[in-house]
Amino acid sequence: WKSLDDVNLAGKTVLTRVDINVPIENGQVTDTTRLDRIKPTIDSILAAGGKPMLLAHFGRPKGKVVDEMSLRHVVPALSEAIGHSVQFIETLEGAENLTAEAKAAEVLLLENIRFHPGEEANDPEFATRLAGLGDVYCNDAFSAAHRAHASTEALARHLPACAGRLMQAELSALEAALGAPERPVLAVVGGAKVSTKLDLLGNLVEKVDKLVIGGGMANTFLAAQGLNVGTSLCEHDMADTAREIMGKAGAAGCEILLPADVVVAREFKAHATHEVVPAHACPEDAMILDAGPQAVARISTAIEASKTLIWNGPLGAFELEPFDAATNTAARHAAEASRAGTLVSVAGGGDTVAALNQAGAAEDFTYISTAGGAFLEWMEGKTLPGVAALGG
Ligand code: 3PG
Repeated sequence: WKSLDDVNLAGKTVLTRVDINVPIENGQVTDTTRLDRIKPTIDSILAAGGKPMLLAHFGRPKGKVVDEMSLRHVVPALSEAIGHSVQFIETLEGAENLTAEAKAAEVLLLENIRFHPGEEANDPEFATRLAGLGDVYCNDAFSAAHRAHASTEALARHLPACAGRLMQAELSALEAALGAPERPVLAVVGGAKVSTKLDLLGNLVEKVDKLVIGGGMANTFLAAQGLNVGTSLCEHDMADTAREIMGKAGAAGCEILLPADVVVAREFKAHATHEVVPAHACPEDAMILDAGPQAVARISTAIEASKTLIWNGPLGAFELEPFDAATNTAARHAAEASRAGTLVSVAGGGDTVAALNQAGAAEDFTYISTAGGAFLEWMEGKTLPGVAALGG
């Protein structure tokens, strides 16, 4: 795909698809990561003499105008994060007939693109109208690239198109983790449910050398091996699927690491009375809430022996102390190896970044993706429409 360096931007309006779908509480953006990470793209466009007109979604308004999903709420935090003035434009008509004030602004931001039904429908007419707003299309929204929408997909076919800096960084980090990684490759996959990560596990066992399965989904695998998991979160109806994944892993030469010992409690709450037991000895009336110390030691050894690590999902009930211990210890181990330069570590998806932040490990990871669903789909081996449209 083309980068911003391959397209002439001087004097051009650059329709720049960004993902500024950030968490907001009481009118305040609580995590500015996605805003901070688009700064290099905006700086590059401005430096090349272009004018960024940002297109973005916010929440899921389903083609209707919903005030709390207005991007107006994000403008102050965005402007601060990127260090440029931002002129908010409420309507497409406003974008088609820019005021003198808008013409003078450094960066333009259009209202939530999902207020228009044509966006998610990937409607050609809507895409044509959007294309009329600019001269060049830049997609910097890797985290929305799993959506085939007008601003993430169709626009690339209407205008000279290129990938933004964040899009490029995301793709090269993922490529280094799973495309052409340094071996051995270790994947750590945790989280509550096997059913939401079937495709991920299925793809990873064919690509990585070792796979740690943790969190609630490990219980399903333990149960599939005939172990009693007491009152643990467990998808008993996924036992056959879990066995299939284990079979596939065996055939592909991927070693699956399940916890040999576990931390159990009778209640799902912080500081609940707990004990460490072997994985085959979970009491009937107890639930597994974390991996045990032996399991963590084994994961740490596996991290030390690896050159590349892919991490998605926590290893235990990390939102409840002290059941965050396995996640924290393993994450810190990975952070140490990354800092020492012996490990390329890439993490992303849903709760993962929150868990790594909580462990104080995120900073030292080689790369933390801004993507949730898109990270998973890429790791599942799927083609992302937004990336494919750029010709990559
Ligand atoms: C995300 O937050 O993962 C992206 O912005 C995509 O949002 P969506 O799941 O509503 O398409």
